[in-house]
Amino acid sequence: MDDMLIDGKGLIKDYGKAQKTRALHGVDIKLVRGEFASLIGPSGCGKSTLLSILGALDRPTEGTMMIAGHDLSGMNDLQLALFRNKRIGFVFQAHHLLPEFTALENVLIPSWIESGTADSKRRERAVDLLERVGLRERLNNLANNLSGGQQQRVSIARALINEPDIILADEPDGNLDSEATEHIYELLRDINRTMGTTFLIVTHDRHIAEKSNRVIEMLDGRILDDYKTSDVSRDDLWKRLAPCNCKCPDTCTDDSHGQSAR
Ligand SMILES: Nc1ncnc2c1ncn2[C@@H]1O[C@H](COP(=O)(O)OP(=O)(O)O)[C@@H](O)[C@H]1O
Ligand SMILES: [Mg+2]
Repeated sequence: MDDMLIDGKGLIKDYGKAQKTRALHGVDIKLVRGEFASLIGPSGCGKSTLLSILGALDRPTEGTMMIAGHDLSGMNDLQLALFRNKRIGFVFQAHHLLPEFTALENVLIPSWIESGTADSKRRERAVDLLERVGLRERLNNLANNLSGGQQQRVSIARALINEPDIILADEPDGNLDSEATEHIYELLRDINRTMGTTFLIVTHDRHIAEKSNRVIEMLDGRILDDYKTSDVSRDDLWKRLAPCNCKCPDTCTDDSHGQSAR
């Protein structure tokens, strides 16, 4: 089996027409199955742009994107949407749950999109996933009535319902306190270990990046550094992951400080 899951070559992304912003300047990136990787870098460096291209939410201006051996440029928009719904799970900072639907219904939404229905097997899987994320007692609660951490856990279960090859997470810790953040990451790591799901996670929290197998660092629309965490000492890793030049404590995750200390 080919272990290459994501293979992006020469990815360029321009926004706007009259006033062009080049958000990606020719990025090459590969991810193999089973990886648990962090994507870090200052605000505006192109992390979310790269994630949406890797997740087939957007198309690159130039370059090629292959996912699990499929060349995305050959797909029309509908084919791309179906492919994405089946193969890729997303977890965002704002979890995009439907507030008037229950936790269980929210988890079943990608399944409804895929097949127009949610058979009993899917329902069972959704219940299992919600149990897995610690929400067995909250299946029928409206999303509106759940805490921020609980809502994020529902969105993780939702991302897993179609058994995706990869989960792309964009600052899933953004709105959570540090304890809830820790729980979310333990959960993602556990899913990676036990279910083999590949992860690429944008984070500002170096405690989290430290727990990854691989760190990919971006700056100004380019990949500045890309290394396995096992290849550097803990001290070195900690320095490399220094979040910014500000004087705030080392738990600082403030996006607006943005500057890498290196
Ligand atoms: N939809 C858009 N239209 C125009 N410019 C955009 C759009 N999305 C992002 N950008 C610009 O592209 C660059 C990269 O943004 P983004 O990928 O959101 O960075 P990050 O996620 O690292 O903060 C920034 O300069 C940003 O202003
Ligand atoms: Mg972003």
